[in-house]
Amino acid sequence: MPIGNNIPYAIELLNSNKLVAIPTETVYGLAANAFNENAVLNIYKTKNRPQFNPLIIHSNRIERFEEWGLLIPADVKLLAQHFWPGPITFIIPANHKIPEIVTAGTGAVAIRVPNHPITLDLLAKLNFPLAAPSANPSGFISPTSALHVEQQLGNKIDYILDGGNCKVGVESTIISFLENEPKILRFGGLAIEAIEAVLNKKLATGSNNNKIVAPGMLSKHYAPVHPLQIVENLSESIQLFDKNRVGVISFSESFAEVPIAHQFVLSKTKDLNEAASNLFAAMRHVDELDLDIILSEKFPNIGLGYAINDRLKRASIQEN
Ligand code: TXA
Ligand code: MG
Repeated sequence: MPIGNNIPYAIELLNSNKLVAIPTETVYGLAANAFNENAVLNIYKTKNRPQFNPLIIHSNRIERFEEWGLLIPADVKLLAQHFWPGPITFIIPANHKIPEIVTAGTGAVAIRVPNHPITLDLLAKLNFPLAAPSANPSGFISPTSALHVEQQLGNKIDYILDGGNCKVGVESTIISFLENEPKILRFGGLAIEAIEAVLNKKLATGSNNNKIVAPGMLSKHYAPVHPLQIVENLSESIQLFDKNRVGVISFSESFAEVPIAHQFVLSKTKDLNEAASNLFAAMRHVDELDLDIILSEKFPNIGLGYAINDRLKRASIQEN
């Protein structure tokens, strides 16, 4: 049985260095023992992920990262107090206990305490952190349900722990603490404004020179089959296409001239958190339809709007 909620079975598999897909509040992760190089290598192989793209390690409490010898900067402790368990990941200096295959030889490690009861329970019962990238083939949309994982990786992994639909629905916000000033490496499920309020300063976005730093560094991501175009004005742009062959991802509006089954309204009440939680499922569903093009609008640049715009933009990049 590949999908279920059998935590003891998941523990048994992880203790034997097998892969298990785990639920988190952001997206499902493809997890393995972060201290075992072969287990981690298997993550890269299964996702077809380039080995230069490092992995986040997860545990249930900040103290456990310290027990494994990681030095946690004061600002990270402060943010963790406010937001962990939750959708924020910190990049800090690694140590010899973290295999290079996890850090991709960067000397830095990404740490997170995810907020999902099943996974917190699981993590508390393991003697190692879980390395876990999103549980999708590299370059595709991240899974926000156990079914999404099964559809894309079901035949390649031993078990999918089912924790229902991911409540946040976009990946964690990533902040690097490798330099003097913290830097945003990825917009995600925790609003930058909330982080800035705790640190009492504005954060810069970073691209750490030419090094790979976050998934955005890979040019194309969240690859849809159909071209996706972000437009200023949906109702005007819809007129330029055959209305029966256009898909629409909108914030709150729907359009009478487009078949209802081709439209994905992310939040009728214009709630950006709700919109984020519906985004990836909408991107999957609209892409399964027989269409010429998918149109989306630009979301407000506030709160989770940054993460939504970021993922839409990546999905709109066409290979040429
Ligand atoms: O919400 C999430 O963050 C989910 C859940 C499963 O926790 N995980 C996730 O992992 O989105 P992934 O691998 O799909 O994206 C994490 C990104 C990686 O693509 C990588 O570029 C960046 O974090 N990253 C990981 N370790 C890093 C490091 N040491 N230095 C810089 N960037 C790092
Ligand atoms: Mg990913």
